[in-house]
Amino acid sequence: MGQMYAAEMQRSGRWDIAYICDTDPASCQLARTLYPFARIVQDAQDIFDDDSVQAVGLFTLANSRPEQIEKAVKARKHILTEKPIADTVEREWEIVKLTEGYDRMAAVNLYLRNAWYHQTMKQFIDEGELGELAIIRICHMTPGLAPGEGHEYEGPAFHDCGMHYIDIARWYAGSEYKSWHAQGMRMWNYKDPWWVQCHGTYENGIVFDITQGFVYGQLSQKQTHNSYTDIIGTKGIVRMTHDFRTAVVELHGITRTERIERPFGGKNLDTLCNLMADSIESGIRNPRMPQMRDSAIASQYAWTFLEDARHNNLPAIGDLQTLEEIRERRRNMTEGYGLLRPKRTGV
Ligand SMILES: NC(=O)c1ccc[n+]([C@@H]2O[C@H](COP(=O)([O-])OP(=O)(O)OC[C@H]3O[C@@H](n4cnc5c(N)ncnc54)[C@H](O)[C@@H]3O)[C@@H](O)[C@H]2O)c1
Repeated sequence: MGQMYAAEMQRSGRWDIAYICDTDPASCQLARTLYPFARIVQDAQDIFDDDSVQAVGLFTLANSRPEQIEKAVKARKHILTEKPIADTVEREWEIVKLTEGYDRMAAVNLYLRNAWYHQTMKQFIDEGELGELAIIRICHMTPGLAPGEGHEYEGPAFHDCGMHYIDIARWYAGSEYKSWHAQGMRMWNYKDPWWVQCHGTYENGIVFDITQGFVYGQLSQKQTHNSYTDIIGTKGIVRMTHDFRTAVVELHGITRTERIERPFGGKNLDTLCNLMADSIESGIRNPRMPQMRDSAIASQYAWTFLEDARHNNLPAIGDLQTLEEIRERRRNMTEGYGLLRPKRTGV
């Protein structure tokens, strides 16, 4: 993610990249090659101590995030951070408390909120084209990050990736989670469920159904995925699907029927970085930037639903030998889903 932010910030021309910090020497070497004008450091304290630095981007892993956010607040830097904002729910809420009264910008990357397809569908719903919003169904299944491959502090797939869907469903509902029932599967006999489906209600009566799993045909000859959002109102529906290159939104409202096909847009870092740059320049926080609180809520419910799945007859199917075959295949894949980037050194 750090590489993607650096590239996007550099491309936009709105940021001066003064420092890049990584504890990994190979990443530092790559940074030196790509950003010869920046100071490359292995201790982030150098950055917090430099008064000429206005903003920091915190894109390492969840375990180091709370300490980095605390130091950034102490040094009065604007903060752009990846999710989750900490590795435990308690620490996440400490960070929310710390940053809510903060007089600098602090925002977190809940990237789906910046996606054109979700913005389009939300506007259509707000225009009343669906009648009353009733049912939100979201599914994201890919042959992506396998257990044990990384992101251990971010938790199982339903937390690491699933918290985005928990957040965006809550964003559509405009209400807080009220009740739930989660079913998981310990695919390949791995200790944690790597597929979870949770359904339930919000305080306002809207119901949700969220399915997330990186268990989708990892050893199939030709891999595929299934990813959609399907929203049902009392009178109309709106839905989208994508193939990671193109997203298709289908609007079936009471006065309008439309099919919109546009480039998928990836992680929408251009939008987030521009919102942050606008906010810093104007001194007024753009309300479209996701808040630390949104991330803490999504993360907390992802953990809660995972815990619920553990108590609902959590079966195990398959064996660890299959998981080893998957890891071996992914180690050698050059094209595919959620591949681990081989460490480039820039030489
Ligand atoms: N919003 C999204 O859609 C999205 C997508 C992918 C990842 N993420 C989040 O972004 C974060 C990074 O994910 P990634 O896939 O880039 O991980 P990664 O493992 O590829 O990269 C993390 C980098 O941080 C460095 N690092 C670790 N601890 C450090 C520390 N204390 N100080 C300095 N450098 C340190 C590592 O050496 C590594 O280069 C994760 O928290 C993940 O949850 C978010």
